[in-house]
Amino acid sequence: MTLSRSELRTAAERFGTPLYVYDAAELDAALARVRSAFGPARVFYAVKANPNLTLLGRMRAAGVGFECVSAGEIARAEHVGASGDTLLVNGPAKSAQEYAAGARLGATFIVDRVEEVGLLPPRSKALVRVNPALDVSTHDHLATGAASSKFGVTPEQVPQVLGALREAGHDARGLHVHIGSAIRNAGDFSAAFARLTALHLHTGDLDVLDVGGGWGVDADLPGIAREAHAAAATFSAQLWVEPGRYLVARAGTLLTRVVGTKHTGRNFVLTDAGMTELLRPMLYGAQHPVTALWDGEVQDRWDVAGPACESGDLLARGVRLPAPTPGDLLALGEAGAYGASMSSNYLTRPRPAEALWDGAAWALIRRRETPQDVWAAELAPF
Ligand code: LLP
Repeated sequence: MTLSRSELRTAAERFGTPLYVYDAAELDAALARVRSAFGPARVFYAVKANPNLTLLGRMRAAGVGFECVSAGEIARAEHVGASGDTLLVNGPAKSAQEYAAGARLGATFIVDRVEEVGLLPPRSKALVRVNPALDVSTHDHLATGAASSKFGVTPEQVPQVLGALREAGHDARGLHVHIGSAIRNAGDFSAAFARLTALHLHTGDLDVLDVGGGWGVDADLPGIAREAHAAAATFSAQLWVEPGRYLVARAGTLLTRVVGTKHTGRNFVLTDAGMTELLRPMLYGAQHPVTALWDGEVQDRWDVAGPACESGDLLARGVRLPAPTPGDLLALGEAGAYGASMSSNYLTRPRPAEALWDGAAWALIRRRETPQDVWAAELAPF
């Protein structure tokens, strides 16, 4: 966690909890680490990790492009001024609306299946997504390059898809691979890149090699970058990357207040945030660092449980904390990626506010929803 306790307390007082807070300095530092490791590679931020317009606007100003997987994400990217070479449109089941928006903005499409060639708008720029058929070191739900996964074409299909794209008058610019998310083992990337370079025999040189994202927050970027550049060099191609988590995870913290405690053989600390604000612990068994913002001697192990009527509504299990009292603040770290973006309105819970610390002051970058926001799209025809 990069923000000080007093800054975090101020934000919670001012904007209420649950609250997502982001540290601009850490956002900038993460991008600087990516640029220093990957040098001239073109960076496309995976918008799904955190689509807040303020964060997108900052990235756009820093020259970052966007990888979008829905019409909504494309609209957000357009809203902050992205088009042409700063826009990638991806997804295994793109809609007519997404093809139209991508074509209007001059985006590059990532082709996910042979059948998609006939669906592309005329004269599209395209990359072919390769499924390298690898088992990688992450949660099953986060692995996208396994043989059984729905993504990409097989290495054997690549020449056929490139040929079909060219025949149909599209600009087949190169290949794309993304093996999954929160990957800790650098060897997984090496294996994927090796599968790509083996394809050079069949493809010859290409303009672009896009190696996706998937880097865990403590990944060895220089090591991954070295191998990615070597793979791109095989094709005499320009290297593109699509980090999501790495650019925003560490900058974000979820602040939640203690509602109370209970002791049933296990010690529970009950908080005003839960699965509706941060789904990752429940969905993937993800462990986010938990920091108590109150003083006291660390004692006992606590399960941090949210307010939802579901047993799985736990933010953490067995963490060591000083004895909590109602009103105390807990901070869940590494929550900038896939935290706010995966929050939901289940139980008609308004999604939390989001605030950015720019080094001198707090700014609200998303207001807290109201229950009326949650039901605003509902109609009453009877
Ligand atoms: N490129 C493609 C084609 C992707 O599918 C993804 C993520 C990324 C880039 C960015 O991956 P990253 O660098 O963020 O790992 N909800 C999950 C993560 C799902 C990621 C889906 N695709 C989570 O909370 O961990």
